[in-house]
Amino acid sequence: DAEIDLKKIINSALIVPIELEMGLPADIISTVEFNHTGELLATGDKGGRVVIFQREQESKNQVHRRGEYNVYSTFQSHEPEFDYLKSLEIEEKINKIRWLPQQNAAYFLLSTNDKTVKLWKVSERDKRPEGYNLKDEEGRLRDPATITTLRVPVLRPMDLMVEATPRRVFANAHTYHINSISVNSDYETYMSADDLRINLWNFEITNQSFNIVDIKPANMEELTEVITAAEFHPHHCNTFVYSSSKGTIRLCDMRASALCDRHTKFFEEPEDPSNRSFFSEIISSISDVKFSHSGRYIMTRDYLTVKVWDLNMENRPIETYQVHDYLRSKLCSLYENDCIFDKFECVWNGSDSVIMTGSYNNFFRMFDRNTKRDVTLEASRENSKPRAILKPRKVCVGGKRRKDEISVDSLDFSKKILHTAWTRLTRWTSYYLIISHTEY
Ligand SMILES: *[C@@H]1O[C@H](CO)[C@@H](O)[C@H](O)[C@H]1NC(C)=O
Ligand SMILES: *[C@@H]1O[C@H](CO)[C@@H](O)[C@H](O)[C@H]1NC(C)=O
Ligand SMILES: *[C@@H]1O[C@H](CO)[C@@H](O)[C@H](O)[C@H]1NC(C)=O
Ligand SMILES: *[C@@H]1O[C@H](CO)[C@@H](O)[C@H](O)[C@H]1NC(C)=O
Repeated sequence: DAEIDLKKIINSALIVPIELEMGLPADIISTVEFNHTGELLATGDKGGRVVIFQREQESKNQVHRRGEYNVYSTFQSHEPEFDYLKSLEIEEKINKIRWLPQQNAAYFLLSTNDKTVKLWKVSERDKRPEGYNLKDEEGRLRDPATITTLRVPVLRPMDLMVEATPRRVFANAHTYHINSISVNSDYETYMSADDLRINLWNFEITNQSFNIVDIKPANMEELTEVITAAEFHPHHCNTFVYSSSKGTIRLCDMRASALCDRHTKFFEEPEDPSNRSFFSEIISSISDVKFSHSGRYIMTRDYLTVKVWDLNMENRPIETYQVHDYLRSKLCSLYENDCIFDKFECVWNGSDSVIMTGSYNNFFRMFDRNTKRDVTLEASRENSKPRAILKPRKVCVGGKRRKDEISVDSLDFSKKILHTAWTRLTRWTSYYLIISHTEY
């Protein structure tokens, strides 16, 4: 079971205009992405489908309307496949979606499963050509002998149709699972990253990609580190970062060499020896990396914290935010139930001043970088009333529990907020999206 809560913030009041409830395992949302203006929202699910929502036009007399985002288009992006050579099933699950900036009336987006990236064109049609000379209305070719007069085809109006057509299929370039795709600011190229390699593609060329990072050791037994996420710089098309399972981030410059195996910058925080434990390496693995909109900072999420790094300082983050430090004493049981391997995402708000990321028990956290205030909020269906203001929640660690607090031991670890997205629509309104996963 998975739910989406879309929250709208106006002057810090929270409104919940949309809530989708999904039942089947194939419906479980696996990724979300707003387009650059926030007017469209694309979701990908375990069943390989992409559903695009469009924001309703604001109308003055219907302020309290629910469902401000309506379904615009639904299509099957990926199908289950079988790799006969390796006897492996390839899941159809959509791992990531990325929008391309709009250039004409149509929208373009990239979607990927573990192995194959596809470029989709989504366009509207409200006219249909009629009166061809060489074919009939069903598209069958006519016998030329029966054509005696020449007609001028005309466009006739019809009901609005939204069509999604695959424009390019970028296949056969990844041996391992694709975890990230990122569109370059030159809008001509994008990259796809898997556990050990990163490839650079041109949007026009599907039969060839350039391998720009390869960390596969000659002997796989020496493997100690995998790539966990990668992203292009928002303005410099030659620069990108990738994060690793060892908690490190590498900044690469494609101008330096064709194969970026030698990084330009290496960001790592030395471990506090007093905190060293069996779980240190697992919890330091980075699950998400995001450039700030300004391009000055990088944000990373690991199991317990969010860190903000200045591009000009490699030896430690400039800010560290504790997401749920009370779990530090629970790592043993989180290891036993596999939760310790959960991959949480993190997002910036439009001006890079607020950070949002998920936690357990349907809780999510927001950190204000200027005021240093933070809040824990709960994305639950009970709270999803229009214009409901979410009450801050508090988790209590040991000692006496106050009435409105929840104890660490009663947190529900099957309810987790892994995916988050945030967009700004106007100067005063922005939406953020919380995807809550409930496991049974
Ligand atoms: C986002 O989608 C809306 C359509 O609903 C479109 O008007 C807008 O141009 C798109 N923005 C970008 C940057 O693609
Ligand atoms: C890719 O396809 C183009 C056009 O079909 C062809 O000219 C080119 O040689 C191909 N490149 C590779 C590496 O196969
Ligand atoms: C070490 O653990 C304490 C809490 O037990 C935490 O506050 C601190 O940030 C940790 N240090 C590092 C470097 O992670
Ligand atoms: C980011 O959040 C801060 C604090 O709530 C707010 O003042 C600012 O307007 C937000 N920026 C955008 C672009 O939404």
